[in-house]
Amino acid sequence: MLAETIIKQLVAIVGEQRLLLGDDDLKRFGIDRTTLWTPAPSAVLLPGSVAEVQAIVRLANEHNLAVVPSGGRTGLSGGAVAKDGELVVAMDRLNSVLEFNPMDRTVTVGAGMITAQLQDFAEQQGLFYPVDFASTGSSQIGGNIATNAGGIKVIKYGMTRNWVAGLKVVTGNGDVLELNKGLAKNNTGYDLRHLFIGSEGTLGLICEATIQLTRPPLESSVMVLGVAYFPAIMDVLRCFSTDIDLSAFEFFSQQALEKVTAHRGHPKPFETEAPFYALLEFENSSEAVLEQAMAIFETCVESGWVLDGVLSQSLSQASNLWKLREDISETLWHWKPYKNDISVRVSRMPEFLREVDELVARQYPDFEVVWYGHIGDGNLHLNILKPETLEVAQFHAKCVNVSSEIGQLLAKYEGSVSAEHGVGLLKKDYLHYSRSAEEMAMMRSIKRAFDANGILNPGKVFDELS
Ligand code: MLT
Ligand code: ZN
Repeated sequence: MLAETIIKQLVAIVGEQRLLLGDDDLKRFGIDRTTLWTPAPSAVLLPGSVAEVQAIVRLANEHNLAVVPSGGRTGLSGGAVAKDGELVVAMDRLNSVLEFNPMDRTVTVGAGMITAQLQDFAEQQGLFYPVDFASTGSSQIGGNIATNAGGIKVIKYGMTRNWVAGLKVVTGNGDVLELNKGLAKNNTGYDLRHLFIGSEGTLGLICEATIQLTRPPLESSVMVLGVAYFPAIMDVLRCFSTDIDLSAFEFFSQQALEKVTAHRGHPKPFETEAPFYALLEFENSSEAVLEQAMAIFETCVESGWVLDGVLSQSLSQASNLWKLREDISETLWHWKPYKNDISVRVSRMPEFLREVDELVARQYPDFEVVWYGHIGDGNLHLNILKPETLEVAQFHAKCVNVSSEIGQLLAKYEGSVSAEHGVGLLKKDYLHYSRSAEEMAMMRSIKRAFDANGILNPGKVFDELS
């Protein structure tokens, strides 16, 4: 419970209507897409300017109040969870286009802008914002930046980081920093902008972002291929990516396809059943590209890697094929999945796949395991489905043990325990498998420099400031 005097001071900053204290609001704003923690913030604030964000952070420092920055709350690692009486600072009202610069092809927006609105704005200007994933309709650009969101086009366009040309942030100490200011070239010492990208709200609140846009792609074709066995996916990737500029290379297992078709009513891509499917996308710039894609497909069939396939003949068919992959995550929520989001270098994937597959088969003999992900980026989403007979806590305890083994395997392959979902609360116990003790100490020092009192998103990414 917040003291009356603090409530008065917060109302003086944001106004009465923008301080939410009701149970429903506290529940709604205190949680992200995870369901493992009970939301319990003490208040939700909806600031309308950078100055208001700064005033909130200064007041929070004065009274030693923890602050959780909040965007669209579509995160999958608990990074936006407020479970211990924190103040949630939601960016929803900082959602407008502040400046568009056609010459630089940049747009400056409030952090609360919904990602799909940014994509639409770019399209209206004849341009393109290429970071794309299933939750663009509700995620906010500030949250995308705070988690360095990846998604389905990373193989061609990279992660969110590649598209951030400038940031305005309020640090945990309450300072306003304007970082990089949209410059393409700027070698003036440490690029602090990149520290905030992927910092999961532990260093500062991202208030505004200058985003680089690019030329729109040509019309794209989508292929879905039935792959005969797990490691063959990597052979298919090698063959296609050698000759074709891919804009996506995704995969999913037969279990994922079964569930998404049954629950969403999507038709299967073809009759032949395969244990795995690859979905690839490329710009069909000429007949020659399509012919080349078909020739590579034939080679893959002759090599025994591919059992069947389909090439989209229209935009609507392409979009329907994409649904088979994009709707998996939402479909699986029904089974309260334990999610792994892991990566290794693409070149190490064939070896890693063999070992992780063996480990999972050994450790989860009775559980249903669903594979999918951005395998063209070396990123696997390994989802373990909760059996109906197990309580969530028991199920989780079992999965946590296996995660340590997966962590050890990732350490051996120099991989990542969180390829794109972030660390938040969910992965912090496994961070040491991917980051050395020296790196973790350095991260704590950086946190201290930007947030001396440790008020910003405490307990996320790593624990206490020791
Ligand atoms: C995806 O690739 O579908 C997203 O990262 C969400 C998920 O892994 O469930
Ligand atoms: Zn993903």
